Amino acid sequence: MEVIIRPDAESAGLLVARIVATDLRANPHLVLGLATGRTMESVYRVLVRMHRKEGLDFSLCSTFNLDEYVGLAPEDSRCYRHYMNEHLFRHVNVDARNTHLPNGQAADLEAECRSYEAAIAKFGGIDCQLLGIGRAGHIGFNEPLSAFRSRTRVKTLAPLTLQQNAELFGGADRVPRRAITMGVGTILESRRCVMLATGADKAEIIAQAVEGPITAMISATALQLHARCTVVVDEAAANRLAGSEYYRRIFATEPEWEQFRNLE
Ligand code: F6R
Repeated sequence: MEVIIRPDAESAGLLVARIVATDLRANPHLVLGLATGRTMESVYRVLVRMHRKEGLDFSLCSTFNLDEYVGLAPEDSRCYRHYMNEHLFRHVNVDARNTHLPNGQAADLEAECRSYEAAIAKFGGIDCQLLGIGRAGHIGFNEPLSAFRSRTRVKTLAPLTLQQNAELFGGADRVPRRAITMGVGTILESRRCVMLATGADKAEIIAQAVEGPITAMISATALQLHARCTVVVDEAAANRLAGSEYYRRIFATEPEWEQFRNLE
């Protein structure tokens, strides 16, 4: 795992977008794993800007989102298909047929989960997976006690997750109880993971995810087992990390990060 600390949320989002853009330019057929949520909005803003101003080309890439609520219609403004259309898809030249989210309205949810896994495999697996982290430590909707070998499946959302997403639904009791999510095992199979966390309310869970013991109670700790995982945080979210000086030195000196140090 590598941890990169940026001064603020905006520069953290910019760095993640630049990582994605670099991977996409190197491989126009990139299979990109996407996340939703407030934190990711800045990443998508920058990617849209790069498409407009730098011609960043999404025409050959394909995308797979981590998760989708069960029971929401695709037109519902709170579903993740709608989020992705609004924040990214309709502003760039991605082929809509190559954008994938689990169908939370499928009549047979188990079959839907199996076919989502099959689609990821058919596209050759995920090259670069974007991740946020919930306050309960989830990645995707892998709530506490999600097995590290779990695959795409239906999960019941934890109370803290319902609370975290309450605002959008007008109260925790109105948040859908279940979601389809890629499993921890599915996520660990992606060739690269990039996690973004910003703000003081993520500081404690980021310290546990990165430096704490590996435990199924905090599914993000599974990323410690991934061979190529980059965690990008702003100063506020880095506040509880014990090793921050070491992480800063790596970013400041390793040649791999040279092109990412002075970004605009
Ligand atoms: C969303 C997802 C979640 C979020 C996490 C953080 O697709 O997979 O794991 O990334 O809940 O959400 P925000 O950014 O809203 O704090």
